Amino acid sequence: MKYALVTGATSGIGIAISRVLARKGYGIVMVSSSLKHLKGAKRSMDERFPEIKAYIIEEDLSIKDSAIRLYNKVRELGVTIDILVNNAGFGLAGPAERIGIHDDEKLLYLNITAPTILCKLFLRDMYKRRNGSILNVASMASFQPGPYNSTYFASKSYLYSYSRAIRHEAKGHGVNVCTLCPGTTRTRFFKKEGIKTPVWAMPAGKVAEYAVDGLEKNKAVIIPGNINKILKAVPSGIKLAAVAYMKKHNNL
Ligand SMILES: NC(=O)c1ccc[n+]([C@@H]2O[C@H](COP(=O)([O-])OP(=O)(O)OC[C@H]3O[C@@H](n4cnc5c(N)ncnc54)[C@H](OP(=O)(O)O)[C@@H]3O)[C@@H](O)[C@H]2O)c1
Repeated sequence: MKYALVTGATSGIGIAISRVLARKGYGIVMVSSSLKHLKGAKRSMDERFPEIKAYIIEEDLSIKDSAIRLYNKVRELGVTIDILVNNAGFGLAGPAERIGIHDDEKLLYLNITAPTILCKLFLRDMYKRRNGSILNVASMASFQPGPYNSTYFASKSYLYSYSRAIRHEAKGHGVNVCTLCPGTTRTRFFKKEGIKTPVWAMPAGKVAEYAVDGLEKNKAVIIPGNINKILKAVPSGIKLAAVAYMKKHNNL
């Protein structure tokens, strides 16, 4: 059985991608920071896809060295990872000076450092096999600064840039690296930020279908839906002002 490792596989886009991949016959190694969430997600996976194997690994990827620990736990499982999905992430809404230093540190570790280290470690194995794929979940936020959501937007710009750079390097090694840039998606994301989920949010299942289709086609950048593709072309200064207004007033 081929296996996909999905970080943040207990909710939203991560669980939706896990389901699409399971439907295609992949075993899933599901990762999150909460054993309770993981047990629930595994139960639902076992019920829906009794023929595939779902493993769970609890690891808080916002903590130093967690990505290396996760890699070692996957090795202990003894499964070969054919697809790595770096999906876990969160945002912090509010003025930069009011967001806690340690909260920002955790965000930067989860959204930047952990996916970077996981790419590095799994690329080495994939290069040896000359086979494998990586899907990095960035965001439409990658394409502009985001006032009152500053570290989140900046973290996604980093992941977008890093992911596209390693895609170029990986070409000669038989490994595909794709970058997913979802727009507003209906998940727990906004509730965790303490703001309302925008009414226009796309269902996570739809984002996951775009994601896996794009991965299969080895697209460099996967942007779900035509509206997001149009939004990408809007000058970043205009989008910056719109985000500043919406986030400041929570006017979603
Ligand atoms: N929703 C949107 O509008 C949107 C748009 C563009 C991009 N994205 C990106 O999509 C990705 C998934 O977000 P989502 O919208 O699906 O949000 P979500 O429903 O809140 O899911 C986030 C996932 O990440 C996991 N996670 C959170 N903190 C973690 C930690 N410290 N260590 C390990 N896992 C952790 C959560 O699991 P536990 O709570 O069980 O740990 C959960 O499975 C994120 O990278 C986000 O930036 C979202």
